[in-house]
Amino acid sequence: MSPQQQQCPMADERVVLNPAFKADAPGQYARLRALGPIHRAEYHRGLTGWVVVGHDLAREALTHPALLKDSGPAAEQLAAAGFILNQPGVGLVDHMLDADPPKHTRLRRLVAGAFTPRRTAQLAPRIERIAHDLLDALPPAGETDLVEAFNGPLPVTVIAELLGIPQEHREDFRNWSAHALQVASPEHRSSLVGLRGLLRDLLLAKRRAPEDDLLSALVMAHDQENGRLSEAEVVGTAMLLIIAGHETTVNLLGNATLALLQNPDQLRLLRARPELLPGAVEEFLRHDTSVERSTNRYAAEDFELGGVTIARGSVVTIALGSAGHGASEARGENPLVLDVTRPNARHLAFGHGIHYCLGAPLARLEVSIALGALLSRVPELELAVPVDSLAWIPSGMMRGLLSLPVRYRTA
Ligand code: HEM
Repeated sequence: MSPQQQQCPMADERVVLNPAFKADAPGQYARLRALGPIHRAEYHRGLTGWVVVGHDLAREALTHPALLKDSGPAAEQLAAAGFILNQPGVGLVDHMLDADPPKHTRLRRLVAGAFTPRRTAQLAPRIERIAHDLLDALPPAGETDLVEAFNGPLPVTVIAELLGIPQEHREDFRNWSAHALQVASPEHRSSLVGLRGLLRDLLLAKRRAPEDDLLSALVMAHDQENGRLSEAEVVGTAMLLIIAGHETTVNLLGNATLALLQNPDQLRLLRARPELLPGAVEEFLRHDTSVERSTNRYAAEDFELGGVTIARGSVVTIALGSAGHGASEARGENPLVLDVTRPNARHLAFGHGIHYCLGAPLARLEVSIALGALLSRVPELELAVPVDSLAWIPSGMMRGLLSLPVRYRTA
């Protein structure tokens, strides 16, 4: 037995990633990290595999040459569990987060130019406007659900404007993309189908009358590059950008606001010193990130990871929030403490390696602007319900609140 196996008594026990686990994910992951960096896992619908929870092993797994997006070796297990994310015509397929090189490189390169830090920074004034318009629409004082009134509409408006999704479809896009990530939700399948159908129609419309937006650019790449971008890849890329581009940000905003409401000293500090916001966003990503676990990787061959043997075809995911907490523990810090002045909030919240989040600069900007606007315009803000009555969305990958009822008074 290798030294790592001795440190990992859970290696033969199965971590069941169910709602009970979800309700206390940070605590559960802390317990797992204390036992070892990798554990057997049972995912939704009985799908089994491994989950990596330690920081160093997470970095290793995210760049391991034997862990790929090609689900071929796991096809039987996936089909038996009834997974539809990989079903052509229904699911979220043919996009960069589902691809290995060289396809990944080609698909990522096509849209990467729209998400560089420089292009993203140009969006700041528009994001400020959207945030202030949403706050203007609130009655001066009362109770509201922040997810519904602010955290949800802000990122959806930003990504919808970037892509060129008309106003009248935004409510549908918001609902469908929220459910598309909740594999346990009864609306999961119909949401994917709805999203795909509407996108197809929109892409046809953009082909007839191109505009200065990302959907038109994708259609043009398809038409001009002679099949270099297939129809399915155009739709897949657009779906990925919609889903990855806002649900993640909605949930980080909610987790960050909740953390501030639970830590009034940190809330006061950030109100008094808004220049701390960019660093605070890193701390929110470390403290309670929204992408709790990575997407699936599949073992292309038998190999060793953290002292255990991963068999070909195994599903492996990386617990990104847990990895960030592990890095804090390695520095002798308590990962559950929120410190918006933390100088080195190391985390893996945007992943690592070739699938590193394309929208990281946009996410950072949106969260920083949104929280800045909220704190400056809403001087009185408190939870309107007991914290333990808050419900987490039923998604294995995502961590975010279904609603965040607050009592508030605007300035
Ligand atoms: C707080 C907000 C966000 C978080 C925490 C986040 C997190 C992540 C993570 C962890 C991954 C890698 C997943 C994996 O390796 O399995 C990823 C990939 C990706 N994200 Fe984000 N994301 C956020 C916002 C955004 C935004 C605003 C966009 C804008 C379009 C975006 C677009 C993407 C894309 C396209 C990928 C796939 C990259 C690739 O496969 O090469 N994300 N994101």
